[in-house]
Amino acid sequence: MIMEQADDKFETGPRRSSRTGLIIRQKDPPNLEMPFEQLDSYLTPTELFYIRSHFPTPRIDVAKYRLVIDGAVRKPLALSYAELRDMPTETRIATLECAGNGRVFLVPQVRGAQWQLGAVGNAEWTGVPLRTLMERAELEDDACEVVLEGADRGIPAEEPKPPGPISYARSVSREKAAQPEVLIALRMNGRDLLGDHGYPVRAIVPGHYGMASVKWLTRITAVREPFQGYWQTSDYAYWDTLDGRPIRRPLAELPVKSAIARPQVYETLSPCQECVVFGAAWAGETDVMEITVSTDGGDTWTAARFLDQVRRHAWRRWTFNWLTPRKPGTYTLLARAKDARGNVQSAEHDWNYGSYVINHSLPIEVIVGDDVRSRS
Ligand code: MTE
Repeated sequence: MIMEQADDKFETGPRRSSRTGLIIRQKDPPNLEMPFEQLDSYLTPTELFYIRSHFPTPRIDVAKYRLVIDGAVRKPLALSYAELRDMPTETRIATLECAGNGRVFLVPQVRGAQWQLGAVGNAEWTGVPLRTLMERAELEDDACEVVLEGADRGIPAEEPKPPGPISYARSVSREKAAQPEVLIALRMNGRDLLGDHGYPVRAIVPGHYGMASVKWLTRITAVREPFQGYWQTSDYAYWDTLDGRPIRRPLAELPVKSAIARPQVYETLSPCQECVVFGAAWAGETDVMEITVSTDGGDTWTAARFLDQVRRHAWRRWTFNWLTPRKPGTYTLLARAKDARGNVQSAEHDWNYGSYVINHSLPIEVIVGDDVRSRS
């Protein structure tokens, strides 16, 4: 067994991962979600943080590890893990959400991992700002994006399949790469990254869906034309329109969303009892400003109370006290968040996003019945 080491040391093999307590959506490669009803602390404990990997977790020998920075730069670099650790770091809190989170709620059912609510988490990330590295490498004036590439490789599960194994790679715009929040992260929640979360080095792109935060990062390539790789054209793309014609675009920014953690779907509640409805809300490049809850399937809405202050790129937990009705029956709970730009969660899924961007108000049906405890 590989033992955890003191924080100021690092080892040559991949770090032990924590998969206990997560729900398996796919065994191999590991795709696991947090039981969202366990939402409690502001920072998601690392052992409860969802894992979304397209290929098996690569084994990286940190003694040989290099982060290559090349392409449209004047001074290409190859940095060792020790060199990265010696650079000044910043610590930021950011919410990561998988673009397919909530997919199980789509009717009709669609292909892909049937995520419930827990492919989302809020963690503290420590690393070197990407812009520091790009400044050192001296980005050429005509570079428009940087491609972040991981060490993992394989043949994707979804058609159209490429002719051979490919790596996991996503690009971010030059503008986003220059923002101080984008990190080349070494630590998660104060400890070295775990193997499943990208050890030894990963990107963290706050405000964007989780797929932008490339794990096991080994290469950053500045490019002069928009990158057309598999993970932003064949997969993780959506239908938009340009001059009245449909076009495909890569998914990027997280839209406003809230989700109910408790009560759980199909939970039985006693009539005339106080029930605490508890959840979290987040938005991409803006702030969540309002949260309302409906206990009657969307006919009426009441303001809930935020527990956390506004902090760009991080979620806000919220709570709402509901006095359950006297009348037994099934009640549909909904939460609806509004962001600082005035965007409000919709009631329905937008099918232009296919099996991704499930940010409408997800119905949590609960049963109000006789006091279940007195019957047992
Ligand atoms: N990076 C690599 N190299 N390979 C991957 O499969 N998955 C992406 C992203 N980075 C992925 C990756 C997706 S789809 C998500 S949602 C996040 O990592 C999940 O990060 P986590 O597993 O640490 O929660």
